[in-house]
Parts: sequence; C-alpha cells; structure tokens
Amino acid sequence: MQKAIYPGSFDPVTNGHVDIIQRAAAMVDELVVGVLINSSKKPLFSMEERVAMLKEVTKDISNVTVKSFEGLLIDFAREEDAKIIIRGLRAVSDYEFELQLAQSNKAVYPAVDTVFLVTSSKYSFLSSSIVRDIAKYGGDNSKFVPDCIDKKLKLIYKTKENQYE
Ligand code: PNS
Repeated sequence: MQKAIYPGSFDPVTNGHVDIIQRAAAMVDELVVGVLINSSKKPLFSMEERVAMLKEVTKDISNVTVKSFEGLLIDFAREEDAKIIIRGLRAVSDYEFELQLAQSNKAVYPAVDTVFLVTSSKYSFLSSSIVRDIAKYGGDNSKFVPDCIDKKLKLIYKTKENQYE
C-alpha cells in the first residue's frame, strides 16, 4: 500500500494546494494532509481552523485524511508509516528550499522519498501569503481559493480592527 504525506502550513488552503491534493490522491492509496503546528509563527487561522477547512475542501476525496503535526516532518512520516512526501513545485525560486528540505528529510529518514508535483501553470504564482494579502485589502480571492475559504477570509477581515493587520 502506498501512503503519502502532503505537509504544509495551509494558512489558508488555496486552489493550488487543492490541485496538488487531487493529483497526489490519484497516485497513492492513502494521502495524509499534514498541517504544521508552528509555535514560532502566528498564523492567520488556528490549527483547528486550518484542519477543518482542509477537511471541508477534501471531503469528496475518499482516500484523503487531514491531520496536524508538530516538530519534524519525518517523525510525523514515521508515526504514519508513510514513505512518500509530496510537495508542489511552482517556480525555480521554490527549488532551493525544497531541495534542502527533501535532502535533509532523506538524510534523517532514508526510507522516505520526496515526490514533487509541478504546480499547474494557472496557479504558479499563487501562495497562501498572496491570498492573505488580497483578503487583507479587500481584493477578490474567488479564483484563488475554494468558496468556503473565500467566505472565511472575508469574515475575518470584515471587522475594522482586522482590516489592515
Ligand atoms: O507550506 P509550507 O510552509 O511551505 O510547508 C513547510 C513544511 C511544513 C513542509 C516544513 O516547514 C516542515 O516540514 N516543517 C517541519 C519541521 C521539519 O521537519 N523541518 C525539516 C528539517 S529536517
């Protein structure tokens, strides 16, 4: 059985992430989306919200589960008994970080391999931080995130005090 982990911050999940999830889920028996709990960063959405949003947008993909993890990705991979890590590659600028991540994960846990899926060209510019910026200044994110995420973003920035945080 092929089990893979697709890790990330997902703050929030974008259409680019959903595209990778759909394509990766079609390649493996089980795909675990791993949401990083990063205590040194203050995310826009809490871990519970990010997990709930991912569950909502992946509810129709039967072999996808969503879990959170803290600490090293390879420890999470070991716990899950997954030997494949999925990452999306958008542009050359992603490569350096992704190479280092894949090689350090391989060095610490040789049984694991990272598989890169090239992001669809229509999402090659897209990132969670771009989406957060667009939402912050009242722009239109409807092409970039699933509807339910767009609604949540609008809600979060609706109140005046949140508008330019
Ligand atoms: O969505 P992101 O922020 O690009 O995802 C980055 C992520 C979560 C894959 C990466 O930061 C990660 O794996 N963090 C956990 C700590 C870790 O294992 N670092 C690698 C050192 S071996």
